[in-house]
Amino acid sequence: MPTMTSFSSRLLNWFDLHGRHDLPWQASKTAYRVWLSEIMLQQTQVQTVIPYFERFLVRFPSVEDLAEAPEDDVLHLWTGLGYYARARNLHRAAKLVVSDFQGQFPQDLEGLLKLPGVGRSTAGAILSLAMGIRAPILDGNVKRVLARHNVVSGWPGTTKTLNKLWALAEEYTPTERVADYTQGIMDLGATLCTRGTPRCQDCPLTNTCQARSRSEQGQFPGKKPRKTLPERETYFVIFQQPDGSVLMEKRPQQGIWGGLWCFPETHSSDELPANLAILSALTKKAGIHLDPIKHSFSHYRLTIRPILLKINRAPEGVAEVNCTQWIDPQEPNKIGLPAPVTQVLSTLVLHQ
Ligand code: ADE
Repeated sequence: MPTMTSFSSRLLNWFDLHGRHDLPWQASKTAYRVWLSEIMLQQTQVQTVIPYFERFLVRFPSVEDLAEAPEDDVLHLWTGLGYYARARNLHRAAKLVVSDFQGQFPQDLEGLLKLPGVGRSTAGAILSLAMGIRAPILDGNVKRVLARHNVVSGWPGTTKTLNKLWALAEEYTPTERVADYTQGIMDLGATLCTRGTPRCQDCPLTNTCQARSRSEQGQFPGKKPRKTLPERETYFVIFQQPDGSVLMEKRPQQGIWGGLWCFPETHSSDELPANLAILSALTKKAGIHLDPIKHSFSHYRLTIRPILLKINRAPEGVAEVNCTQWIDPQEPNKIGLPAPVTQVLSTLVLHQ
């Protein structure tokens, strides 16, 4: 039996051997450098940030240099990093550090949270990485590690889930080597406990990871719930000849069900009376309303109302029109059919 060590000591041992130790902001961990890197890393990948971080420090070696600079210079150096509110907040925060904190970054959560652009996680990173003060962090990588390790369900965008994750972050943060622990847990999330295919076989936390033991790594963290989709409806108009065959048409390549075969459609019930008038001239009977079918697309939900019109003979010209054909519902042959159309065809067999 391997000795079971605590969460943080296993993580620290792993960090010593496999963590990232050469990132530019690790060279001299002043509050200014850590703060700057953390703001840049909030929405941007490490590899993109590195050259920006280095150029920034050449132009603004200290928080005073940054505070004194015209905003245009700051924004200019940010060009290409995106999310420019970060740069404007950075500049305002630098001015505040100089004006209200004598050029020294506050050394507690409450003080750091006064700086524009600094939230609880960024403040935790500054306290732990730059000052060695025990403070949890909870960026995207850490959320994933903790949600999987403790099977915290729910989307971290909700207060309930977020509070559970913060409680775990707090519980696991050790009292010693807090800087290495903080860097280590971020590194683990970025390199092993990745969103796509986590490398659990190499993970120091694998023995106690509950998502891993259930093979449910992909379920955590929970996804953002999907927005309610707009509802649309359409009518399938099904002409059926006495031999049972039905009229189908090939849809244009563009749009939904491109290139598949469908019944003629009419989208609004306003069009229906006119169509039905023409059709009833052919059929001498009203249409039969079949059971509606619900179908979901990625961006809307469709209610399909099929109307069956039994006709005595094929209307002239229809079968010769390009892209239409009479299909035997029992043997639709080798044509592409959307799922709801297949469903309607099987219902039709029962109506014969
Ligand atoms: N993302 C946020 N903070 C980071 C850090 N200190 N190192 C690497 N990636 C990070």
